[in-house]
Amino acid sequence: MHICTIVGARPQFVKAAVVSPAIRQRGQETLVHTGQHYDEELSDVFFEELDIPMPAYNLEVGSDSHGAQTAAMIEGIESIVEDVSPDAILLYGDTNSTLAGAIVGSKMDVTVAHVEGGLRSYDRQMPEEVNRVLTDHATDLSFVPSIRAANNLDTEGVTSGVHVTGDVMYDVLLQARAHARRTSRILDRLELEAGAFVLATVHRAANTDDETTLAGILDGLSGSPYPVVFPVHPRTESRLRSFDLWDRATSELEVVDPLGYLDFVRLLETADRVATDSGGVQKEALFVETPCITLRRETEWVETVACGWNELVGADPDLLSSALCRERDHQSPPTPYGDGNAAERIGELLEAYLDDDVVSQDAPPTVRSLPTPKSSKSKL
Ligand code: UD1
Ligand code: UDP
Repeated sequence: MHICTIVGARPQFVKAAVVSPAIRQRGQETLVHTGQHYDEELSDVFFEELDIPMPAYNLEVGSDSHGAQTAAMIEGIESIVEDVSPDAILLYGDTNSTLAGAIVGSKMDVTVAHVEGGLRSYDRQMPEEVNRVLTDHATDLSFVPSIRAANNLDTEGVTSGVHVTGDVMYDVLLQARAHARRTSRILDRLELEAGAFVLATVHRAANTDDETTLAGILDGLSGSPYPVVFPVHPRTESRLRSFDLWDRATSELEVVDPLGYLDFVRLLETADRVATDSGGVQKEALFVETPCITLRRETEWVETVACGWNELVGADPDLLSSALCRERDHQSPPTPYGDGNAAERIGELLEAYLDDDVVSQDAPPTVRSLPTPKSSKSKL
């Protein structure tokens, strides 16, 4: 089999770290970086630390409006697909890079495979929600992280080619955690005591692009009883500066550049809690058993909220600061996102579909049960 994988943004590099090897064990991969993220800290560091194969192409689309950025990606991906004639295009998550790949694959009649299908926040104001819905409806093979995600697709009439594989970010975290413990010096570097700091990340347009909202998040974070470490996404830095909030942020918070994955995971697992609007970080917090406060009013990762490890506070300063101060229950969380073998399963499913023609377009939904770890106790 020959897979053309499209990545472009930070969380997609993390996911490719486990799926690319699973593909390359079984066939050929052409890895395409759209260039949506291009700063060293948002891109190169992940390829180096996680040993991700170097992309065969970098489209270098850079930052732009949604339309211009997505259009440049579509044009670039189309021309690569014409050149390399892959059997399938593989996509991750919900970014503009994902949507661009889905449009090219479906228009060129190439099998579209999607990792992290079926997620819904049901907030169409979120650009990622639009990307999710459109991608899911242009996908032939959907690898979903949970039963709930499969049910979401079912509700929308997407019933064939849906496979509940578990979440590939869990695979990555299990592989990288011990490495992070051995090699990361981030606690010393930032002079932090384990359990006595809060980690925070903010990058969603809804939180960064409105001055009152962003100032409200700073108000809420300043209510933390512990120092707040804030690896700042470039989008957020740029908005803090333009709203004249940068000096305030750097005086009230421990603002640092975006971190590499290993340092970030080390901080996440040793933090008292994490406040974030990231999708990936909500799951990773559950995996490392760090209570999460989500700076959104809804989430597509509903399982993390249902089990009590994630609390939605939106951008409300009072809710945020009281969530940062409140005692939290520390029972071991459940494992709703698989057993840490999602990437292998995806490799096998791709191979079966493309090489052996085992799954046909008309086949009923296939793997509908979610693999879980053998022990119901905490797995980490
Ligand atoms: C994108 C994804 C989002 C994902 C996030 C992961 C979309 C619509 N959004 O959001 O789903 O959660 O990536 O981090 O696809 N910038 C830099 N350097 C970079 C990249 C971006 O300075 O390397 C700045 C630019 O000012 C740019 C802004 O960040 O305009 C936003 O970048 P963009 O990729 O459009 O969206 P993200 O907010 O990163
Ligand atoms: N991450 C990182 N360094 C940081 C912030 C996040 O390595 O400074 C990792 C994090 O562990 C997760 C991924 O980046 O694996 C999440 O990316 P992001 O929050 O940008 O995107 P989202 O998941 O919201 O799409």
